[in-house]
Amino acid sequence: MLSKKQAQVFFLGGTAVTFLIFIMLTIYSLSSAQDQSNQENLTAEAIRGKEIWEKNNCMGCHTIMGEGAYYAPELTNVLERRGDAYVKAVLMSKIPWQPQGRKMVAYGMTEAEANDVVAFFEWVTEINLNGFEKVNRTISPLAKDRMID
Ligand code: HEC
Repeated sequence: MLSKKQAQVFFLGGTAVTFLIFIMLTIYSLSSAQDQSNQENLTAEAIRGKEIWEKNNCMGCHTIMGEGAYYAPELTNVLERRGDAYVKAVLMSKIPWQPQGRKMVAYGMTEAEANDVVAFFEWVTEINLNGFEKVNRTISPLAKDRMID
């Protein structure tokens, strides 16, 4: 059994040590070597593309880097999977794109807008995601039967 004094020392010592570890891990996480944000490669096009992404609530149906809704395909590595030309065709289409059975919104974007969204996806592709992009997460597991490839 610890005496009251020993218990106090144990509590205060333990608190100090774990607090120090917490501070050190915080410094380590925020150090530039750990920066995975890819912010240095942000271009004006990529920023405009992100604005289009936000304004149109693409995440209401899609996920990107695992975040969003599971109605439509995951878009983190859509450029690798489909290529720029396909992605631009989907965004510029004036009729809903739906080869797999669910409808994508027919945004009918201009070429410039579609290029901005592609620039945003390119920027996303360059982010270090610790291997997330290699996981086959093209679509929700619930919709696997809807996939044709
Ligand atoms: C109402 C839901 C919905 C919204 C909102 C939406 N999408 Fe889609 N999108 C879909 C669906 C469903 C598909 C799959 C269509 C198919 O292949 O049959 C799709 C397909 C795509 C594809 C092709 C993906 C692939 O792997 O074939 C891209 C790129 C895409 N959407 C980008 C966007 C962008 C960018 C936005 C926002 C500007 C957006 N989507 C908003 C539903 C949506």
